Amino acid sequence: MMACAPFTPLRLTSSRIGLGTWGLGGGTDWGGDGDEKDISSVIAAALDAGINLIDTAPAYGWGRAEERTGNAIKKCRSRVILADKCGIVRNESGRPDHDLRPKTVVSQCHASLRRLHTDYIDLYLIHWPDPKVPLTDVLETMERLREAGKIRAVGLCNVDGALLKQALSLTSVECVQNNLSLLHACQNEVLSICLERHIGFMAYGALGGGILSGKYKKQPNFRRADARRYFYKYYVGENFFKAQLTADRVKKVAERKKTPPSAVAAAWVLAQKGVSHVLCGARSVRQVRENAQAAGLTLTKEEMDFLEYGH
Ligand SMILES: NC(=O)c1ccc[n+]([C@@H]2O[C@H](COP(=O)([O-])OP(=O)(O)OC[C@H]3O[C@@H](n4cnc5c(N)ncnc54)[C@H](OP(=O)(O)O)[C@@H]3O)[C@@H](O)[C@H]2O)c1
Repeated sequence: MMACAPFTPLRLTSSRIGLGTWGLGGGTDWGGDGDEKDISSVIAAALDAGINLIDTAPAYGWGRAEERTGNAIKKCRSRVILADKCGIVRNESGRPDHDLRPKTVVSQCHASLRRLHTDYIDLYLIHWPDPKVPLTDVLETMERLREAGKIRAVGLCNVDGALLKQALSLTSVECVQNNLSLLHACQNEVLSICLERHIGFMAYGALGGGILSGKYKKQPNFRRADARRYFYKYYVGENFFKAQLTADRVKKVAERKKTPPSAVAAAWVLAQKGVSHVLCGARSVRQVRENAQAAGLTLTKEEMDFLEYGH
């Protein structure tokens, strides 16, 4: 049975493993423009495997991930806990930019609701801090959306401890969403604040964008616009070979436990103190089924240390 964890103030219970839809949005971020995946069967497989948390954003394929998610969950909306985001827009040259001005947040929220075919978002997160806009203004706007019933909980992505503390002094925040994996294990300060303040920590990038599945025998040559070149930096230059050392350790533990490497990598994140949920991106039914196995996996202290330190 899939392990679940509450978003405390809401009494919402969601699976501890969530499905990320960045890669399912298609577009240049993840492969190529024509790379349309069958998102309905991936989402159906996730629900079948006990995963009811789905994370998306307008920036994923510039609306395509939301549209495809919305179409796929039309008939089962009430079974899904939807996390969505605001604050990344496409600028005049077509590139991503930060914009958390209140009017942008409100219009992005309305556009997301339309694309998702729903009238509420369970968890609405600021996708990236925007230093041009005072945090008070952003959080007040989120509060107004919450009061209007358009969103049910507020979260922050990509924050450090100082910004999280500032936000908590201004309003209630239910969840943080930050990058945490065996290749990016540096969230101790934020995790301890989350624990102390009883708020969720949703980890993303648990598979290092896929590299921790151990599937890359050779260094891949992704296009410049691919997220695995500009966002996850484990695929370029020397970093690839360093990441392979970790991926090899994941593979060894997976072989011993007769389980997929991706499940081991996600289980390591799930076991970190303070982590409530782990998002795994999946672009096929097989991947989602493999990743879901993380929820039932217990790693010993020796296995955890071996994965992190190699001894
Ligand atoms: N808040 C933020 O700023 C932020 C940033 C990044 C991500 N996120 C969210 O977090 C989610 C998860 O992160 P992520 O998708 O970026 O990275 P990830 O979960 O580390 O990696 C996902 C990718 O790994 C590959 N993969 C997944 N399962 C696999 C398996 N079992 N075997 C082999 N390959 C597998 C797939 O790509 P291929 O099949 O193409 O190799 C998949 O798209 C995102 O989808 C998004 O919803 C949020």
